[in-house]
Amino acid sequence: MTESQAKTFLFEKNQNPLAASEREALLENPGFGRVFTDHMVTIRYSEGRGWHDGRIEARRAFDLDPATVVFHYAQEIFEGMKAYRLRDGGAALFRPDANARRFRNSALRLAMAPLPEDMFVQSVRELVRVDRDWIPSADGAALYLRPFMISTEVLLGVKPSSDYIYCVIASSVGSYFKGGAPAVTLWVSENYTRAAPGGTGEAKCGGNYAASLAAQAEATREGCEQVIFLDAVERRYVEELGGMNVFFLFDDGSLQTPPLTGTILPGITRDSLITLARDLGLTVREEPYAIDRWEADAKSGRLTEAFACGTAAVVTPIGQVKGRKYNFTIGSGGAGQVTGKLKAALLDIQNGRAPDPHGWIDRLF
Ligand code: PLP
Ligand code: COI
Repeated sequence: MTESQAKTFLFEKNQNPLAASEREALLENPGFGRVFTDHMVTIRYSEGRGWHDGRIEARRAFDLDPATVVFHYAQEIFEGMKAYRLRDGGAALFRPDANARRFRNSALRLAMAPLPEDMFVQSVRELVRVDRDWIPSADGAALYLRPFMISTEVLLGVKPSSDYIYCVIASSVGSYFKGGAPAVTLWVSENYTRAAPGGTGEAKCGGNYAASLAAQAEATREGCEQVIFLDAVERRYVEELGGMNVFFLFDDGSLQTPPLTGTILPGITRDSLITLARDLGLTVREEPYAIDRWEADAKSGRLTEAFACGTAAVVTPIGQVKGRKYNFTIGSGGAGQVTGKLKAALLDIQNGRAPDPHGWIDRLF
């Protein structure tokens, strides 16, 4: 399928959509990832035939054989992006081309069939247009899009699957953290690492998240909202959170974030914030930062703010860091001023309240 063919997804309207009154009630307080829209996109791939059978239809369960590859060897990738309600009632995606590129890179790393990037973008645009009534308009709310791909060959032999289903579902969301947490507490994972050099750390595959859950459970037991991972080689350098990148702000006004060396996810929010920070006149470094340095800098006051960022988490201040060997507070333990400024700069572009000098907004209607 080419771009123009992708526009002609076979469309079968959901004959049993949720009543408007029930939808509106759900949109009042959707939480994160619990409220789903009426439709989904699917496109199939098979070796020899390529991508075919693009559809938009009622969201429904898959019927899969128990020997389907994905159930056994986790050949699965996904993306996370949002459609934002604009001030004038329209809606826009944010840098969907960047998600399309990352999805393709993830597919290649997992030895899956790469979906053409224009088809990815088109599929997301079409779903948002069809389910436009599900885009919430409250501050901080959005329609979260979850494109994903699973291997569907029925086989227990270990090899790349010959068949795939690409699918996009959509979920009306509010804040990722309960109660919109003003600042989160992190747990330093010393027992577990997330990704090693040569592994799948920079791919967005389900396996990375499965591997992070024991560490996340440990964090929860310790009263922390999120886990922060250290590098797998020296167990010293800060990498990222389970589902977010991390930034540090210093008293000289400079900003630092771990470099993209293959073990962390190249976040689109991370990339956008680097650009916005430079627009605001800040110096930004992509350099490793050691956990013992972080503790010393937080205690001396050289480090003034730290925050996590991602599509789901947006920009979330880090208030405190705990671990078997660590316990320190960042700044006053609450939301810092520069963090707030960067968050506002990002949200203002995403919600169409500010000009879009970098061409990031993809207006849908
Ligand atoms: N790191 C991980 C492990 C993630 O799951 C995410 C979320 O997608 C991010 C970072 C941030 O990426 P993005 O800003 O593209 O959402
Ligand atoms: C996202 O921010 O889109 C993610 O995929 C992170 C996940 C933890 C919800």
